[in-house]
Amino acid sequence: MPPFTAGANGPMTKAGEIKTISVIGGTGALGGGLARRWAEAGLGVIIGSRQADKAEAAAAELAERTGAARIEGMENSAAAAAGDIAVLTVPFAHQQPTLEVIRDSLAGKILVDATVPLVPPKVARVQLPPEGSAALLAQAILGEGVTVVSAFQNVAADLVDSDATLDCDVLVAGDKPEAREAVIHLASLAGLQAWHAGPLVNAVAAEALTSILIFINKRHPGKHAGIRISGLDGD
Ligand SMILES: NC(=O)c1ccc[n+]([C@@H]2O[C@H](COP(=O)([O-])OP(=O)(O)OC[C@H]3O[C@@H](n4cnc5c(N)ncnc54)[C@H](OP(=O)(O)O)[C@@H]3O)[C@@H](O)[C@H]2O)c1
Repeated sequence: MPPFTAGANGPMTKAGEIKTISVIGGTGALGGGLARRWAEAGLGVIIGSRQADKAEAAAAELAERTGAARIEGMENSAAAAAGDIAVLTVPFAHQQPTLEVIRDSLAGKILVDATVPLVPPKVARVQLPPEGSAALLAQAILGEGVTVVSAFQNVAADLVDSDATLDCDVLVAGDKPEAREAVIHLASLAGLQAWHAGPLVNAVAAEALTSILIFINKRHPGKHAGIRISGLDGD
C-alpha cells in the first residue's frame, strides 16, 4: 500500500477540512470499529498502537476489509502527528500514560477523548476521577495547546464494529463550538447522530451514563442499551 501524506491543517481544523484521522488505540474494540466506519466514509485513517508492527498489521487488515486505500498504521506518537485530528480509544487505566506519549504530537490539534473512567471490577458503578472526569483529566495533561473534545462514550463497540444502524446518540462536550462541530461531523460520517452537549466540564454526564448503560445491559443480556435525545426531530 503506498503511503499517503496527511495534511496538517493548523490549530483549529474545521469539520470539512478533516481528511485524515488518527485513532490512538485503533487496534482495540471501539477504535477499530470507528476506524472502519471512517475508512468506509472516505477519510484517511491512521491506526495508532504502542507497537508500530501491531498498528501496521491492523491497518493492513482494515484496508483489506474495507477496500479503502488511505489507511496506515503507526506507533501512537507518530500516528498522532500524522492526522488532522486524533481520537483516543484506550482504557482509562492507560489514558494518562498514552496522553503523555502523544502530547507533543498533538500541539494545535483537537483530541477527541472517548475514555470512560471505568474502574474494574465495578464497572456498572459510576466512579469519577478526582479531576472530575476523564475528559478534564485529558485536558489537564495536554494543556491549553490542545483542544480536548469528549464524545462516543455511550456507543457500544460491538455495534460500531458491525453494519448495524447505530441506535445511540453521541453527546459532544468541549469548550470550543467549532471543535465540537468538527466532532459532530466525524460522528455523522460514522453513522451516528451527535449533539452539542456544552463545555468540556459537561463530559462528566456522558462518562457517568456509560456505567448506567452497563448496569442496564447486565439486566438485559445480549442487548446494547444506548441513549437518544428526544424532542428534536427534524433539527
Ligand atoms: N468498548 C466499548 O464498547 C466502549 C464504548 C464506549 C467507550 N469506550 C471507551 O473507549 C476506550 C477504549 O475501549 P475499548 O473497549 O476499545 O478498549 P480495548 O479494546 O480494551 O483497548 C484499546 C487499546 O488500548 C491499548 N492498550 C491496552 N493496554 C494498554 C496499556 N497498558 N497501555 C497503553 N495502551 C493500552 C491497546 O492498543 P495497543 O496494544 O495496540 O497499544 C488496545 O488495542 C475506553 O476508555 C472505554 O471506556 C469503550
